[in-house]
Amino acid sequence: KWCLALVLLVVGRCGPAVAQDDFLYGTFPDGFIWGAATAAYQIEGGWNEDGKGENIWDFMTHAFDGGIADYSTGDIAADSYHKYLDDVAALKETGVNFYRFSLSWSRILPTGRIDQINQAGIDYYNNLINALLDNGINPLVTLYHWDLPQHLQETGGWLNEEVVDIFGDYANLAFSTFGDRVKSWITFNEPWVQSELGYGYGGNAPRVVGSGQTDYIAAHNQIKSHARAWHIYDDNYRATQNGEIGITLDSGWIEPKTQSTADIEAAERAMQFKLGWFAHPIFSVDGDYPPIMKEYVARHSAEEGYPASRLPEFGQTWVDYIKGTYDFFGLNHYTTELAEYGIREGNYTSYDKDQDLYKSQDPSWPASAAPWLKVVPWGFRKLVNWINNEFNGVRLIVTENGFADLGEINDVDRANYYTNYINELMKAINLDGCNIYGYTAWSIIDNFEWTAGYSQKFGLYGVDFNDPARPRTRKLSAQLFPGRPPLTLT
Ligand code: NOJ
Repeated sequence: KWCLALVLLVVGRCGPAVAQDDFLYGTFPDGFIWGAATAAYQIEGGWNEDGKGENIWDFMTHAFDGGIADYSTGDIAADSYHKYLDDVAALKETGVNFYRFSLSWSRILPTGRIDQINQAGIDYYNNLINALLDNGINPLVTLYHWDLPQHLQETGGWLNEEVVDIFGDYANLAFSTFGDRVKSWITFNEPWVQSELGYGYGGNAPRVVGSGQTDYIAAHNQIKSHARAWHIYDDNYRATQNGEIGITLDSGWIEPKTQSTADIEAAERAMQFKLGWFAHPIFSVDGDYPPIMKEYVARHSAEEGYPASRLPEFGQTWVDYIKGTYDFFGLNHYTTELAEYGIREGNYTSYDKDQDLYKSQDPSWPASAAPWLKVVPWGFRKLVNWINNEFNGVRLIVTENGFADLGEINDVDRANYYTNYINELMKAINLDGCNIYGYTAWSIIDNFEWTAGYSQKFGLYGVDFNDPARPRTRKLSAQLFPGRPPLTLT
């Protein structure tokens, strides 16, 4: 006990001062649930074991220059394909209510299609799910966390509308196989990142460099695929399995750079392009893309001589089919940006150019090991309020939030990040009345951080990637969960 008290004191002393009046950290609503997250490609390894098919991240990281900062791959990663019981033990020790993880599509369906099922992949997830339940931890399962089967990429991936039915078949298999025990499903993780970084800027797999349209088309097919999976669940499984299904969208908060009307409007427009792009079709009363987004993309397209808007149209049948396809809103949030009005010239991707604004971050905001992740706790409260207002008090769960460092075990900066971000979340719930029922830390263990490889760490547990046994070590920040107060206030 004295040891824990000492740790708490140290954290308290190192952290930014939090005034007692503002400190609502412990005031969690009844039934509030806590979890920690991972994703298949980032932790599993076993990239070609027991019949698993290749996916777009396997393919890209094995290419001559896969574009990964430290030239690493997810071939072994944290080796969770073999060490998943260690992960369950870490989750149990942490005390979380649920574990958010993703299914590797090509581990279950090596070509992505339903005609070839890999039983070893099904066994792996059955074992994981059963181990979680045996330890009192509920599974929250993401169907798609960026690892498209390479076979499907070869026929266009998210650019080919055929993927909608193929994704539906995969989702159907997941519900029928695991849905007796999995009661919470997420269709897509961060479709903005898959669309913009995968098919726009061209950094993430499959590294399609945007044509001005490809990002919008990739997003369009993911939104349709989400709706397809939701309806399959709703029509065939909800009544017997009694679960829930939603989508996870990512957004920073976007603050106007100045209080000029042009910047205030630019920040709102940027929110619509970032979050509204995916949220408006699903969560708004009218459905479809945000009107401002349709207007701006159509105008830019016309100026560029396109015969029609580069933003595809759903048509009324799809608008109605997509609208309302949620049981909850999953939100991933890490940081805040500033928006400033400005007409962009030159060689930008369509998405940037279409918005008529520039984004930046305030150099005074504290940094992390990830260049994009600055510590701005107040942005969290503003963001969840924006969502709550925009989408009529939608039931929201935070499906990711976390901090990048270089791998400290005594991770005081991460502990402070969590303390201050969770505190802002509690203000949103207790003072502002936002409808938020759970929180998920990213991540339970250090893992492969996409194009940053292993150079940035997000875990509550460290993983030694130089040791073939991949041992896990509990960090200081793990002691904050679930919702344990980190500071002793006087
Ligand atoms: C969001 C992504 O879903 C996850 O895969 C990633 O590792 C974290 N953010 C941190 O960047």
